[in-house]
Parts: sequence; structure tokens; C-alpha cells
Amino acid sequence: MTVQICWHGHATLSLEVDGVKVVVDPFFAPRNPVAKTTVDEVAADFVLITHGHGDHVADAVTLLKQTGATAIVKPEIGNWLEAQGVEKTHGMNAGGSFDFPFGRLTMTTAFHSSGLPDGSYGGEPGGFVIDGGGRRIYIAGDTDVFSDMALIARGGLDLAVLPIGDNFTMGPDSSLLALEFLKPKAVIPYHYNTWPRIAVDVDDWVAKVRETTDVRPIVAGVDEPVEL
Ligand code: NI
Ligand code: MN
Repeated sequence: MTVQICWHGHATLSLEVDGVKVVVDPFFAPRNPVAKTTVDEVAADFVLITHGHGDHVADAVTLLKQTGATAIVKPEIGNWLEAQGVEKTHGMNAGGSFDFPFGRLTMTTAFHSSGLPDGSYGGEPGGFVIDGGGRRIYIAGDTDVFSDMALIARGGLDLAVLPIGDNFTMGPDSSLLALEFLKPKAVIPYHYNTWPRIAVDVDDWVAKVRETTDVRPIVAGVDEPVEL
């Protein structure tokens, strides 16, 4: 049982859990200014989308059509994808769990917004907990910190993936508070340094995580897989 997680820049991740390929929030080069991979290079069995903003759904339709993967999304985003010709969608909502070939997936809440690029309503924003490959991973999506993260922590977390870029989401300091609630073994930061407005000194953040928590910070490089 193995889990590999790879950051592609901004909020785009791919995971391989026991050989099943999962992509989260597909936003690849050239539109994603820090990504190195283009969408035509990406394989996926499942595509998870946290919310409707352009920096999370940019390449979703292309990737889903090219791979025939199943989108796991809020029903409103599922309807939007289907209207563009995506065939396989699995709607979920906050608090719901379902067993997929890569493990048990729970959709969580998030404090953010979720309009789709064409102005369609995207439902409420969310995040995901993936319990698979012997690991329990929380992918927060775009969100502020919230004290109910303590509920997500129940059952233990091997990894939390948290936005730290500030301005649109929690920032470096509030992510430390999130770690107090979540108590994961390790944390990977994302949604930072894509544009000047979410510029972060990540070395300074790493130092603060080490000083104030027992959590291991893992600064993933773009397209450099991390083995869990
Ligand atoms: Ni957003
Ligand atoms: Mn975003």
C-alpha cells in the first residue's frame, strides 16, 4: 500500500493510491504560471474539484474528456461539467463519504466562495479527506481556518494540504492555527507564490511550523512526487 502525492503548482495535485490516479483541481500550464506540466500529459482515473473558481476548474473539462475519468464534485459543478459534455460525474456534498477504488472519500466544508467562470452557481466550496492506501489525507481547498477542523482531525491525519497564500484563503499565520486543530503528522503548503498577491516567504513559514508545532512541513517542488 502506497500513496504518492505530487504538487503541480498552485492548488493542483495528483495522487496515486494503490495504482489509481486521482487529480485534484486541474489547472496546468500554460494558464497556471508556475506549472510545468500541460493537461495533455496528465493521466487520471478520478478528478476531484474543491470549488468552481477558474484556478481550480481551468483544465477540468479537457482532462475529463481526454481521460474518461470520473469527476467527484458538488452536484452543481457536476451539472456544469455535464453541460459541457463530460459524461461521468459523481456528486457529493459536505459530510458525505463514499468508497472509491482509491479509498474512502469524504467531502468537507470550506469557508470561501464557489462561482464558476461563466457565472454559474457552483454550490458551496469544499475540501476532501482521502482515506486510502493506509493513509488519511486532508486536502483543504481554498478556505479560511475554522475550528471544526478539529472534527476532521478525529481519526488522525497523516497529511494536511493547506493553502497558505493569504488574500484569498488562510495565510501563513492562520495556517499555524489550522495545524493546532488538525494535528496532522505532516503538512504540504499550496495556493501560494502563483501570483504576487499570494506571495509568501515559504522558508519563514517552515521555520514557524517547526517552532510552534510538532507537524513536519514538506515543501513540495513542482512535479516532484512525495511518497507517504
Ligand atoms: Ni477559490
Ligand atoms: Mn483558488
